[in-house]
Amino acid sequence: MSPKAKTKASEKKAKTDKKAVERIEHAGLLDVRELTTHFKLGAGDVKAVTKVSFVVEPGESLGLAGESGCGKTTAALSILKLLPENGRIVSGDVLFDGRNLAKRTEYGMSKIRWKEISIIFQGAMNALNPVQETGKQIAEPIQLHEGLSEKQAMVRVRELYDLVGVSQKRVMDVPHQLSGGMRQRAMIAMALACNPKLVIGDEPTTALDVMVQAQILDLIARLRKELHLSFILISHDLSVMAETCDKGVIMYAGEVVESGTTTNIFNNATHPYTRLLIKAFPNIHEKREMVSSIKGDPPNLINPPAGCGFCPRCDVRIASCATEHPELIEVEPGHFVRCVLARQGV
Ligand SMILES: Nc1ncnc2c1ncn2[C@@H]1O[C@H](COP(=O)(O)OP(=O)(O)OP(=O)(O)O)[C@@H](O)[C@H]1O
Ligand SMILES: [Mg+2]
Repeated sequence: MSPKAKTKASEKKAKTDKKAVERIEHAGLLDVRELTTHFKLGAGDVKAVTKVSFVVEPGESLGLAGESGCGKTTAALSILKLLPENGRIVSGDVLFDGRNLAKRTEYGMSKIRWKEISIIFQGAMNALNPVQETGKQIAEPIQLHEGLSEKQAMVRVRELYDLVGVSQKRVMDVPHQLSGGMRQRAMIAMALACNPKLVIGDEPTTALDVMVQAQILDLIARLRKELHLSFILISHDLSVMAETCDKGVIMYAGEVVESGTTTNIFNNATHPYTRLLIKAFPNIHEKREMVSSIKGDPPNLINPPAGCGFCPRCDVRIASCATEHPELIEVEPGHFVRCVLARQGV
């Protein structure tokens, strides 16, 4: 082999090795590492998501919780690279089944969305076209992504209606003929249409009454088991996470402030913010309103504070909290907390 050919061969091998290493090195099905996403505004960059990391194993469900504006939806849209025009992933990796989605082209992402990762968008059930049959609206992405005719896609829609517990007779109903619960089931059907490995549900039960919320959460739990799905359930309501998730990530002002198994989070909540959130939502069967809301507001994300973002609202803060930005520390195996008091073992 000529020296030139040898160099080419070794370069090719190095590239292959790099790919192979990437395939081996990442954890779980989805491994989000230090994801940072900003939105550009006239007044400056909104630091919506800062160095967020978590892992979702095959078949596992992870809850992403926190108050409004803490970056839950932005994290989800970053995973799928569906950010609005003024949004961009600044740094970090989104490793999914051996590929780094953060570095993928739009064409590359089009092969992943719906077929491997799907999303139930926040408020999607109210965004359905009011004058088009719901079944046909679900058939459209199936036609697009699976290359099926409308007739073939409608056969799949009927199967999906069966799967999510809506009578097949309802496929020709327009949205207002369906109850809120049925519409949300239809949205779940749409998310499952191309047999994804991971589904992201962005507040999938928030607009529903308590009884229907419980039914939808039961449905998600059943589907997860039957289809061996991984699920990211986004909610501002911790009781939803407690009922349905294996693991939890609590976000505040764009950062992870606590993460661990749901047992870690509910039996040993350590961050003052997590404790207050738990108090705010006592349990799933009670009325879904913040029972005791947390005083004050999250910080401005254009100019986030130098110290702990939760400091002004925290009832156990110490002097250094205003100036020292806490790192995430592991307080027990797999349980991470971003609070100086956790470091002091309080
Ligand atoms: N297109 C955008 N341009 C500028 N800022 C944005 C944009 N979208 C979101 N943001 C800001 O990014 C931050 C995170 O918003 P995000 O929607 O991710 O929060 P969230 O946790 O999903 O809230 P909610 O519970 O209300 O859905 C907020 O400060 C929000 O105002
Ligand atoms: Mg949101």
